[in-house]
Amino acid sequence: MPIPKRVQLIDVGPRDGLQNEKQPVPASVKIELVHRLQAAGLTEIEVTSFVSPKWVPQMADNAEVMVGIQRQSGVRYSVLTPNLQGFEAALKTQPDEIVVFGAASEAFSQKNINCSIAESIERFAPVVQAGLAAGIAVRGAMSCTVGCPYEGDIAPERVAYLAGLMKQIGVQRVDVADTIGVGTPFKVQKAIEATLQSFDVDHICGHFHDTYGQALSNTLAALQMGVWNFQSSVAGLGGCPYAKGATGNVATEDVVYMLHGMGIETGVDLDKLIDAGAYISEFLGRKTQSRVATAILNKRAG
Ligand code: HMG
Ligand code: MG
Repeated sequence: MPIPKRVQLIDVGPRDGLQNEKQPVPASVKIELVHRLQAAGLTEIEVTSFVSPKWVPQMADNAEVMVGIQRQSGVRYSVLTPNLQGFEAALKTQPDEIVVFGAASEAFSQKNINCSIAESIERFAPVVQAGLAAGIAVRGAMSCTVGCPYEGDIAPERVAYLAGLMKQIGVQRVDVADTIGVGTPFKVQKAIEATLQSFDVDHICGHFHDTYGQALSNTLAALQMGVWNFQSSVAGLGGCPYAKGATGNVATEDVVYMLHGMGIETGVDLDKLIDAGAYISEFLGRKTQSRVATAILNKRAG
Protein backbone atom coordinates (compact mmCIF):
# COMPACT_ATOMS: atom_id res chain seq x y z
CA MET A 1 0.00 0.00 0.00
CA PRO A 2 1.60 3.33 -1.03
CA ILE A 3 1.88 5.98 1.69
CA PRO A 4 -0.80 8.68 1.13
CA LYS A 5 0.42 11.95 -0.38
CA ARG A 6 -2.05 14.04 1.58
CA VAL A 7 -3.40 13.68 5.11
CA GLN A 8 -6.58 15.17 6.55
CA LEU A 9 -6.15 16.17 10.16
CA ILE A 10 -8.99 16.63 12.62
CA ASP A 11 -7.92 18.66 15.63
CA VAL A 12 -9.84 17.34 18.61
CA GLY A 13 -8.12 19.65 21.10
CA PRO A 14 -11.12 21.85 21.95
CA ARG A 15 -13.16 18.71 22.81
CA ASP A 16 -10.96 15.73 23.71
CA GLY A 17 -8.20 18.08 24.81
CA LEU A 18 -10.20 20.26 27.15
CA GLN A 19 -12.97 17.92 28.36
CA ASN A 20 -10.85 16.65 31.24
CA GLU A 21 -9.43 20.01 32.35
CA LYS A 22 -10.08 20.62 36.05
CA GLN A 23 -9.79 24.41 35.88
CA PRO A 24 -12.65 26.23 34.20
CA VAL A 25 -11.87 27.23 30.63
CA PRO A 26 -14.19 30.06 29.55
CA ALA A 27 -16.12 29.67 26.31
CA SER A 28 -14.27 32.71 24.95
CA VAL A 29 -10.93 30.88 25.27
CA LYS A 30 -12.32 27.77 23.56
CA ILE A 31 -13.68 29.94 20.76
CA GLU A 32 -10.35 31.73 20.35
CA LEU A 33 -8.60 28.34 20.20
CA VAL A 34 -10.93 27.21 17.40
CA HIS A 35 -10.25 30.50 15.57
CA ARG A 36 -6.51 30.00 15.87
CA LEU A 37 -6.74 26.41 14.67
CA GLN A 38 -8.69 27.38 11.57
CA ALA A 39 -6.27 30.26 10.94
CA ALA A 40 -3.47 27.67 11.03
CA GLY A 41 -5.16 25.74 8.22
CA LEU A 42 -7.01 23.02 10.12
CA THR A 43 -10.10 22.17 8.08
CA GLU A 44 -11.68 19.79 10.60
CA ILE A 45 -12.13 20.73 14.22
CA GLU A 46 -13.93 18.70 16.91
CA VAL A 47 -15.36 21.58 18.89
CA THR A 48 -17.31 20.20 21.85
CA SER A 49 -19.65 17.49 23.09
CA PHE A 50 -23.34 17.49 23.90
CA VAL A 51 -23.08 15.17 26.87
CA SER A 52 -24.44 15.44 30.39
CA PRO A 53 -22.92 18.44 32.22
CA LYS A 54 -23.05 16.34 35.39
CA TRP A 55 -20.71 13.82 33.79
CA VAL A 56 -18.43 16.25 31.97
CA PRO A 57 -18.82 19.77 33.40
CA GLN A 58 -16.13 21.25 31.16
CA MET A 59 -18.35 20.75 28.09
CA ALA A 60 -21.43 22.42 29.64
CA ASP A 61 -20.87 25.50 27.47
CA ASN A 62 -21.21 23.43 24.27
CA ALA A 63 -23.88 25.59 22.60
CA GLU A 64 -22.23 28.86 23.59
CA VAL A 65 -18.96 27.73 22.04
CA MET A 66 -20.58 26.44 18.85
CA VAL A 67 -22.57 29.60 18.19
CA GLY A 68 -19.66 31.86 19.18
CA ILE A 69 -17.37 30.58 16.43
CA GLN A 70 -16.92 32.72 13.35
CA ARG A 71 -17.11 29.96 10.84
CA GLN A 72 -14.71 29.77 7.98
CA SER A 73 -15.93 28.21 4.75
CA GLY A 74 -14.34 24.86 3.98
CA VAL A 75 -13.96 24.01 7.67
CA ARG A 76 -15.94 21.11 9.15
CA TYR A 77 -17.03 21.57 12.78
CA SER A 78 -17.93 18.35 14.59
CA VAL A 79 -19.51 17.61 17.97
CA LEU A 80 -20.12 14.50 20.07
CA THR A 81 -23.74 13.41 20.52
CA PRO A 82 -24.27 10.26 22.66
CA ASN A 83 -28.06 10.19 22.46
CA LEU A 84 -31.11 11.96 20.98
CA GLN A 85 -31.12 14.51 23.79
CA GLY A 86 -27.59 15.51 22.87
CA PHE A 87 -28.39 15.44 19.17
CA GLU A 88 -31.38 17.76 19.56
CA ALA A 89 -29.32 20.28 21.50
CA ALA A 90 -26.47 19.99 18.98
CA LEU A 91 -28.78 20.41 15.97
CA LYS A 92 -29.65 23.96 17.03
CA THR A 93 -25.99 24.87 16.73
CA GLN A 94 -25.66 23.51 13.17
CA PRO A 95 -22.71 21.13 13.37
CA ASP A 96 -21.31 19.81 10.09
CA GLU A 97 -20.71 16.40 11.61
CA ILE A 98 -21.96 14.57 14.68
CA VAL A 99 -20.09 11.80 16.44
CA VAL A 100 -21.63 8.85 18.23
CA PHE A 101 -19.10 7.17 20.48
CA GLY A 102 -18.97 3.53 21.45
CA ALA A 103 -16.32 1.20 22.79
CA ALA A 104 -14.87 -2.16 21.82
CA SER A 105 -14.75 -2.95 25.55
CA GLU A 106 -17.92 -3.63 27.56
CA ALA A 107 -16.47 -2.25 30.78
CA PHE A 108 -15.43 1.02 29.15
CA SER A 109 -18.83 1.39 27.51
CA GLN A 110 -20.45 1.10 30.94
CA LYS A 111 -18.08 3.57 32.61
CA ASN A 112 -18.10 6.10 29.78
CA ILE A 113 -21.70 6.16 28.61
CA ASN A 114 -23.48 4.13 31.27
CA CYS A 115 -24.75 1.33 29.01
CA SER A 116 -23.63 -1.87 27.29
CA ILE A 117 -22.27 -1.93 23.74
CA ALA A 118 -25.58 -3.39 22.47
CA GLU A 119 -27.59 -0.70 24.30
CA SER A 120 -25.28 2.02 22.96
CA ILE A 121 -25.98 0.90 19.40
CA GLU A 122 -29.73 1.03 20.10
CA ARG A 123 -29.30 4.61 21.34
CA PHE A 124 -27.07 5.62 18.45
CA ALA A 125 -29.31 4.26 15.67
CA PRO A 126 -31.97 7.01 15.89
CA VAL A 127 -29.24 9.65 16.34
CA VAL A 128 -27.51 8.49 13.17
CA GLN A 129 -30.82 8.44 11.27
CA ALA A 130 -31.76 11.91 12.49
CA GLY A 131 -28.33 13.26 11.61
CA LEU A 132 -28.36 11.86 8.09
CA ALA A 133 -31.96 13.06 7.57
CA ALA A 134 -30.82 16.58 8.56
CA GLY A 135 -27.97 16.41 6.04
CA ILE A 136 -25.30 16.18 8.75
CA ALA A 137 -22.31 13.85 8.37
CA VAL A 138 -22.05 11.05 10.93
CA ARG A 139 -18.88 9.63 12.41
CA GLY A 140 -18.55 6.84 14.94
CA ALA A 141 -15.76 6.85 17.50
CA MET A 142 -14.60 3.41 18.64
CA SER A 143 -12.79 3.58 21.99
CA CYS A 144 -10.41 1.01 23.42
CA THR A 145 -9.63 -0.69 20.11
CA VAL A 146 -6.33 -2.06 21.41
CA GLY A 147 -6.53 -1.80 25.18
CA CYS A 148 -8.97 -0.91 27.94
CA PRO A 149 -8.22 0.54 31.38
CA TYR A 150 -10.58 -2.02 32.93
CA GLU A 151 -10.31 -5.11 30.68
CA GLY A 152 -6.69 -4.97 29.45
CA ASP A 153 -5.93 -6.16 25.91
CA ILE A 154 -8.82 -5.99 23.47
CA ALA A 155 -9.00 -8.64 20.74
CA PRO A 156 -9.35 -7.42 17.14
CA GLU A 157 -12.56 -9.47 16.91
CA ARG A 158 -14.15 -7.03 19.38
CA VAL A 159 -13.22 -4.17 17.09
CA ALA A 160 -14.58 -5.99 14.03
CA TYR A 161 -17.85 -6.57 15.92
CA LEU A 162 -18.26 -2.90 16.89
CA ALA A 163 -17.27 -1.65 13.43
CA GLY A 164 -19.88 -3.99 11.92
CA LEU A 165 -22.57 -2.58 14.22
CA MET A 166 -21.54 1.01 13.42
CA LYS A 167 -21.79 0.21 9.71
CA GLN A 168 -25.22 -1.44 10.13
CA ILE A 169 -26.73 1.66 11.73
CA GLY A 170 -25.46 3.95 8.97
CA VAL A 171 -22.34 5.54 10.45
CA GLN A 172 -20.33 6.94 7.52
CA ARG A 173 -16.82 6.75 8.92
CA VAL A 174 -15.17 5.56 12.10
CA ASP A 175 -12.33 6.44 14.42
CA VAL A 176 -10.04 3.65 15.51
CA ALA A 177 -9.14 5.00 18.93
CA ASP A 178 -6.37 3.98 21.26
CA THR A 179 -8.01 5.69 24.21
CA ILE A 180 -5.28 5.00 26.75
CA GLY A 181 -2.31 5.08 24.39
CA VAL A 182 -1.11 1.55 25.10
CA GLY A 183 -1.06 0.44 21.47
CA THR A 184 2.04 -0.42 19.48
CA PRO A 185 2.22 -0.50 15.66
CA PHE A 186 1.29 -4.12 14.93
CA LYS A 187 -1.58 -4.06 17.44
CA VAL A 188 -2.92 -0.86 15.90
CA GLN A 189 -2.62 -2.41 12.44
CA LYS A 190 -4.70 -5.39 13.63
CA ALA A 191 -7.41 -3.04 14.94
CA ILE A 192 -7.44 -1.24 11.58
CA GLU A 193 -7.53 -4.56 9.71
CA ALA A 194 -10.56 -5.55 11.79
CA THR A 195 -12.26 -2.24 10.94
CA LEU A 196 -11.52 -2.74 7.23
CA GLN A 197 -14.01 -5.66 7.29
CA SER A 198 -16.76 -3.02 7.44
CA PHE A 199 -15.28 0.34 6.33
CA ASP A 200 -12.96 1.17 3.47
CA VAL A 201 -9.67 2.84 4.21
CA ASP A 202 -10.96 6.28 3.17
CA HIS A 203 -13.51 6.08 5.99
CA ILE A 204 -11.18 5.17 8.82
CA CYS A 205 -9.53 7.79 11.07
CA GLY A 206 -6.66 7.08 13.45
CA HIS A 207 -7.12 8.53 16.97
CA PHE A 208 -4.08 7.80 19.07
CA HIS A 209 -3.43 8.97 22.60
CA ASP A 210 0.24 9.26 23.42
CA THR A 211 0.37 7.98 27.00
CA TYR A 212 3.17 5.50 26.27
CA GLY A 213 4.86 7.61 23.60
CA GLN A 214 3.74 5.32 20.77
CA ALA A 215 1.32 7.57 18.92
CA LEU A 216 3.64 8.76 16.13
CA SER A 217 4.80 5.19 15.47
CA ASN A 218 1.17 4.11 15.42
CA THR A 219 0.38 6.94 13.01
CA LEU A 220 3.13 5.73 10.68
CA ALA A 221 1.84 2.15 10.96
CA ALA A 222 -1.64 3.33 9.96
CA LEU A 223 -0.25 5.44 7.09
CA GLN A 224 1.46 2.31 5.79
CA MET A 225 -1.98 0.72 5.52
CA GLY A 226 -3.23 3.71 3.50
CA VAL A 227 -5.09 5.49 6.32
CA TRP A 228 -5.02 9.23 5.63
CA ASN A 229 -7.41 10.70 8.23
CA PHE A 230 -6.00 11.33 11.69
CA GLN A 231 -7.10 13.02 14.88
CA SER A 232 -4.72 14.85 17.14
CA SER A 233 -4.79 17.62 19.75
CA VAL A 234 -2.94 20.90 19.52
CA ALA A 235 -0.26 21.01 22.25
CA GLY A 236 -1.06 17.33 22.97
CA LEU A 237 -3.91 18.43 25.23
CA GLY A 238 -6.20 16.08 26.96
CA GLY A 239 -7.32 12.78 28.29
CA CYS A 240 -10.59 11.03 28.97
CA PRO A 241 -12.35 11.40 32.34
CA TYR A 242 -13.23 7.71 32.22
CA ALA A 243 -9.70 6.52 31.39
CA LYS A 244 -7.63 7.54 34.43
CA GLY A 245 -3.96 8.12 33.75
CA ALA A 246 -4.40 8.36 30.00
CA THR A 247 -2.76 11.49 28.65
CA GLY A 248 -3.66 13.57 25.64
CA ASN A 249 -3.86 12.77 21.99
CA VAL A 250 -0.73 12.89 19.95
CA ALA A 251 0.16 16.57 19.48
CA THR A 252 -0.98 17.98 16.16
CA GLU A 253 2.33 19.85 15.88
CA ASP A 254 4.28 16.56 16.11
CA VAL A 255 2.09 14.85 13.50
CA VAL A 256 2.38 17.82 11.12
CA TYR A 257 6.17 17.94 11.51
CA MET A 258 6.47 14.21 10.78
CA LEU A 259 4.13 14.35 7.79
CA HIS A 260 5.75 17.42 6.24
CA GLY A 261 9.14 15.81 6.76
CA MET A 262 7.86 12.80 4.79
CA GLY A 263 6.66 15.06 1.96
CA ILE A 264 2.99 14.53 2.88
CA GLU A 265 0.70 17.55 2.56
CA THR A 266 -1.60 18.62 5.39
CA GLY A 267 -2.51 22.20 4.48
CA VAL A 268 -1.45 23.22 7.98
CA ASP A 269 0.95 26.10 8.71
CA LEU A 270 3.17 24.67 11.44
CA ASP A 271 4.26 28.08 12.78
CA LYS A 272 0.69 29.29 13.21
CA LEU A 273 -0.25 25.96 14.77
CA ILE A 274 2.57 26.36 17.29
CA ASP A 275 1.17 29.80 18.13
CA ALA A 276 -2.27 28.26 18.70
CA GLY A 277 -0.69 25.66 21.01
CA ALA A 278 1.26 28.37 22.85
CA TYR A 279 -1.96 30.34 23.35
CA ILE A 280 -3.86 27.50 25.04
CA SER A 281 -0.82 26.24 26.99
CA GLU A 282 -0.26 29.73 28.38
CA PHE A 283 -3.92 29.96 29.39
CA LEU A 284 -3.71 26.58 31.16
CA GLY A 285 -0.42 27.57 32.80
CA ARG A 286 1.35 24.49 31.48
CA LYS A 287 4.13 23.65 29.08
CA THR A 288 3.03 22.26 25.73
CA GLN A 289 3.14 18.47 25.47
CA SER A 290 4.38 18.78 21.89
CA ARG A 291 8.07 17.96 21.43
CA VAL A 292 8.12 19.79 18.11
CA ALA A 293 6.51 22.92 19.56
CA THR A 294 8.97 22.84 22.48
CA ALA A 295 11.93 22.58 20.09
CA ILE A 296 10.70 25.35 17.80
CA LEU A 297 9.73 27.66 20.68
CA ASN A 298 13.23 27.16 22.17
CA LYS A 299 14.76 27.95 18.80
CA ARG A 300 12.62 31.07 18.47
CA ALA A 301 13.63 32.21 21.98
CA GLY A 302 17.31 31.60 21.18
P1 HMG B 1 -27.28 8.55 31.68
O1 HMG B 1 -27.20 9.06 33.06
O2 HMG B 1 -27.22 7.07 31.49
O3 HMG B 1 -28.53 9.14 30.88
O4 HMG B 1 -26.12 9.23 30.85
P2 HMG B 1 -30.06 9.23 31.19
O5 HMG B 1 -30.73 9.21 29.86
O6 HMG B 1 -30.44 8.23 32.23
O7 HMG B 1 -30.24 10.71 31.79
C1 HMG B 1 -29.78 11.05 33.09
C2 HMG B 1 -29.61 12.56 33.21
O8 HMG B 1 -28.67 13.03 32.24
C3 HMG B 1 -30.88 13.35 32.93
O9 HMG B 1 -30.80 14.53 33.72
C4 HMG B 1 -30.77 13.75 31.48
O10 HMG B 1 -31.48 14.92 31.18
C5 HMG B 1 -29.28 14.00 31.39
P3 HMG B 1 -31.54 14.66 35.15
O11 HMG B 1 -32.98 14.32 34.86
O12 HMG B 1 -30.86 13.64 36.06
O13 HMG B 1 -31.28 16.09 35.54
N1 HMG B 1 -28.77 13.79 30.02
C6 HMG B 1 -28.15 14.75 29.28
N2 HMG B 1 -27.87 16.04 29.53
C7 HMG B 1 -27.25 16.74 28.55
N3 HMG B 1 -26.91 16.20 27.34
C8 HMG B 1 -27.20 14.92 27.06
C9 HMG B 1 -27.85 14.14 28.06
N4 HMG B 1 -28.27 12.86 28.10
C10 HMG B 1 -28.82 12.66 29.29
N5 HMG B 1 -26.86 14.41 25.88
C11 HMG B 1 -24.79 9.89 28.99
C12 HMG B 1 -25.80 8.90 29.52
C13 HMG B 1 -24.16 9.32 27.75
C14 HMG B 1 -25.49 11.19 28.68
C15 HMG B 1 -23.73 10.12 30.08
O14 HMG B 1 -23.20 8.90 30.42
C16 HMG B 1 -22.62 11.05 29.66
O15 HMG B 1 -22.82 12.24 29.40
N6 HMG B 1 -21.37 10.54 29.60
C17 HMG B 1 -20.21 11.34 29.25
C18 HMG B 1 -19.42 10.61 28.26
C19 HMG B 1 -18.29 11.45 27.77
O16 HMG B 1 -18.46 12.61 27.40
N7 HMG B 1 -17.07 10.86 27.74
C20 HMG B 1 -15.92 11.51 27.17
C21 HMG B 1 -16.00 11.56 25.67
S1 HMG B 1 -15.62 9.99 24.89
C22 HMG B 1 -13.91 10.05 24.67
O17 HMG B 1 -13.26 10.96 25.13
C23 HMG B 1 -13.29 9.00 23.82
C24 HMG B 1 -12.92 9.48 22.41
O18 HMG B 1 -12.03 10.57 22.45
C25 HMG B 1 -12.28 8.36 21.62
C26 HMG B 1 -11.16 7.70 22.45
O19 HMG B 1 -10.14 8.29 22.72
O20 HMG B 1 -11.43 6.56 22.81
C27 HMG B 1 -14.17 9.91 21.64
MG1 MG C 1 -9.86 10.38 22.77
